Amino acid sequence: MKITPEKLIQAAAQARLGAVAPYSKFQVGAALVTSAGKIIGGANVESASYGLTCCAERVALFAALTSGHRDFTAVAVVARAPAGPMPCGACRQLLAEYAPQARVYVADSDDLTQFRTFTVGELLPAAFVLVP
Ligand code: THU
Repeated sequence: MKITPEKLIQAAAQARLGAVAPYSKFQVGAALVTSAGKIIGGANVESASYGLTCCAERVALFAALTSGHRDFTAVAVVARAPAGPMPCGACRQLLAEYAPQARVYVADSDDLTQFRTFTVGELLPAAFVLVP
């Protein structure tokens, strides 16, 4: 079943409700979809040792990967951010490795009908690879 960008963004907004962000209060949700139409969500989790914080994109990606999913066609990221939240550099690297063909949708939680679309290659050109 084809998952529309709107539906995936809705799933990311739903996943965002699970954010654990007591320090920044910046709640982020992400949702990946596989070529089989399976949606996997995640949200950011913060630590009192701030550097241990994990972004929503990576929480979703790690959950999906460790559940055996591969072949991601899209990922949506939602937060209260004008024009939507842009994935950080670390998440871009992981997306380049495990979801290189995915479309990336970003949307403001205050208006999910507006979203921007990127390719992973646009977000991280010339990504690091271990064996070029
Ligand atoms: N955050 C994400 O979840 N995704 C991003 O791409 C950027 C930042 C989270 C990490 C932290 O919990 C909060 O947003 C503020 O940086």
